[in-house]
Amino acid sequence: MTSSNSQVTVTIIGGGIGGLVLALQLHFVGIKNITIFESSRTLAAIGSGINLQPSAVLVLRNLGLLPGLEEIGIKTEELKYYNRHGHFVIGEPRGQKAGYLVPQFSVHRGMLHALLLGAVKERLGEECVVMDHVFTSFDQDERSITARFTRKTDPAVPAEIPERASDVLIACDGINSTARRLLYPDEGPPNFSGRLLWRGVSLREPFLTGRSMVWAGHADQKFIAYPVGRQAEKEGKSLVNWIAELRVRSKDDPDLTPPVADWGKCVSKDRFARKFQSWTFGFLSIPDLIEETEVVAEFPMCDRTPVDRWSFGRLTLLGDAAHPLYPIGSNGASQAILDSVALSSALQQETNIPAALTWYQNERLPPTAKICFANRANGPDHVLQLAHERAPDGFENIDDVIGSVELEEVGKAYKLLAGFDMESVNKKAKETEGLWESRSMKNGVSSHGR
Ligand SMILES: Cc1cc2nc3c(=O)[nH]c(=O)nc-3n(C[C@H](O)[C@H](O)[C@H](O)COP(=O)(O)OP(=O)(O)OC[C@H]3O[C@@H](n4cnc5c(N)ncnc54)[C@H](O)[C@@H]3O)c2cc1C
Ligand SMILES: *[C@@H]1O[C@H](CO)[C@@H](O)[C@H](O)[C@H]1NC(C)=O
Ligand SMILES: *[C@@H]1O[C@H](CO)[C@@H](O)[C@H](O)[C@H]1NC(C)=O
Repeated sequence: MTSSNSQVTVTIIGGGIGGLVLALQLHFVGIKNITIFESSRTLAAIGSGINLQPSAVLVLRNLGLLPGLEEIGIKTEELKYYNRHGHFVIGEPRGQKAGYLVPQFSVHRGMLHALLLGAVKERLGEECVVMDHVFTSFDQDERSITARFTRKTDPAVPAEIPERASDVLIACDGINSTARRLLYPDEGPPNFSGRLLWRGVSLREPFLTGRSMVWAGHADQKFIAYPVGRQAEKEGKSLVNWIAELRVRSKDDPDLTPPVADWGKCVSKDRFARKFQSWTFGFLSIPDLIEETEVVAEFPMCDRTPVDRWSFGRLTLLGDAAHPLYPIGSNGASQAILDSVALSSALQQETNIPAALTWYQNERLPPTAKICFANRANGPDHVLQLAHERAPDGFENIDDVIGSVELEEVGKAYKLLAGFDMESVNKKAKETEGLWESRSMKNGVSSHGR
């Protein structure tokens, strides 16, 4: 599989999940002249839990990363929804337990990031990731696009940073994307949902199957818990990632500016812990889980209203820069990974760069816009909202409150929308079986090599 664009030079802004997977995917289709510019000085393992849906795991399998994922992630087996009293609403098997040919993985974002970074450096070379480069502006003409940078380190010291000209510039710079701000100067900060999220991770005894995800409560007060670390599992423990969500600003408040947050900063639990005091379920005590966790970080739940264009000549957006979503439905990282497949195959097949970027946009913008609006309407968690609205004080049996067909339909519709329905994933999994192995053999390298 060689690319008609194999001589193309690519600049990637942002070495997050999207930027790194994109580099691996482009390299795989034969585009090898790639440089990633990342604003951080060092890539530390910050963040907590993240999910990779089977659609995204398939992409990573085809990049030879399944063994690496198996070493760090939990193969999620089930998802269970409860109301705030701990009454069971609905559950479903997930990943291979549900019949997918590839697993769903729950992983620590920091470990996933380290795995991807290792693979990028091994396959594309150490020098391909350039740290401490904050992208600030660009210029383009018919022949190339130039990116400019500053340093984060010490803005008082005017550090010389060479600009970089290339054929394509792909901005994977996250929810507060600089590229997006240059393209849409009037857009402003992300749109705050009025809800805050608190996240933590705790090493403890496993609950339920030890590979279960629990979603409890309703749209304005929710608690999520699932294990993420394979190492803990091997030792008979669970590294449990949890998220507490609370509405802190009224729905009618015209102020949509998010409070400032920092993924790396520890905050006090006082603001939310009390509200979850009575959430002691038979299999899991939420107050205990919060209590025992040392480090808790706070984030505003934000998104941005979809724009109608990502691609402008030789520049395009990918991942959260293109479509920041509410963290609902566990598929933010998965969507960035699906973007990278569409973009690399467009660049592989179409020699006209602006045309390739437009093709990618047409492929990925409509479905991700739909996910944005679906997440605003609670996404798959709508089952919790239904149960809460119809029986706020709880129930003995969910069947007395909502029919199973209505409940099951919510999850089915969302999987189709988000591109991880079993039929389409399994079809692709069969079509691409052995793809990585056969490529590696042809190139005469081991499964981890270039
Ligand atoms: C530190 C961190 C921790 C996170 N932790 C979690 C988590 O625990 N759970 C979860 O669900 N999601 C988390 N996320 C978000 C999640 O990674 C994304 O929603 C998703 O993976 C899509 O990835 P992305 O590559 O589009 O964006 P991101 O993963 O946000 O990556 C964007 C990258 O671009 C870099 N960048 C930003 N601006 C510039 C610039 N001007 N110039 C150069 N580089 C720039 C950032 O430093 C970052 O490395 C985290 C994001 C970050 C940055
Ligand atoms: C993005 O900016 C908003 C403020 O406008 C801030 O609250 C948020 O934490 C920022 N997000 C990231 C990931 O930097
Ligand atoms: C912000 O989000 C709300 C729903 O969550 C939506 O109704 C509104 O249009 C959005 N506003 C902007 C400016 O994006």
